[in-house]
Amino acid sequence: MGTIADGEGTELNGYGGEKEPGGGHGGPLTQEQVHGIKETWAILAQDPVERGVDLFMKIFEEDPDLKKLFYFADDGRELSREDQRMRSHGERVMEAVGGAVDSLGDLTAVVPVLTELGALHHKYGVQPSYFDTVGAALIYILETNLGDKLTPSIRQGWVLVYGIVGATMKKGMQQAMDHQNMAKTRP
Ligand code: HEM
Repeated sequence: MGTIADGEGTELNGYGGEKEPGGGHGGPLTQEQVHGIKETWAILAQDPVERGVDLFMKIFEEDPDLKKLFYFADDGRELSREDQRMRSHGERVMEAVGGAVDSLGDLTAVVPVLTELGALHHKYGVQPSYFDTVGAALIYILETNLGDKLTPSIRQGWVLVYGIVGATMKKGMQQAMDHQNMAKTRP
């Protein structure tokens, strides 16, 4: 039985259908990738609030409709980088990704938190596919902030790690949907 980090039982094709080289079935991260992910995250995490804002600015650029899901941006106003509520949510997302990076040796440690978080996001009106948009934006901010430091191998490691984060949140969301549907059909 493999651990989550081995990629067993998870959707490890990353986000948005991006496949890993070699058929995309994950496989464990190499020590070099673990080291590289931690090192590159340490650079981004120097300013989690600003990087969280970068992340959501990219997400909203890719899919402006997602703004509607945030009470802070549902009134049609131009969203500013200084918006405190967006900064706070961005920081929370960064914390959740940071939690996964801290647990790279045994990602099962963060599964309960991420599953619960996925279920909560069902209540917020988030669709499973939105987590793919977040994943693509995360890779984008890694690329723009890190330049050459994000080697192809480290990038591939990141796709794998976010693939696990996103898949786990989606699983929690699916459980919440199933639960809701069961409650609806009960006499
Ligand atoms: C486009 C995708 C997403 C949308 C539309 C979204 C939306 C929301 C909304 C509306 C809230 C509640 C209000 C707030 O605190 O701002 C929330 C809370 C939160 N979100 Fe997201 N979210 C998204 C993705 C994510 C991701 C990928 C993560 C983490 C990896 C995350 C982490 C959190 C956390 C930690 C909270 C606070 C939960 C609580 O304790 O109540 N969100 N999100």
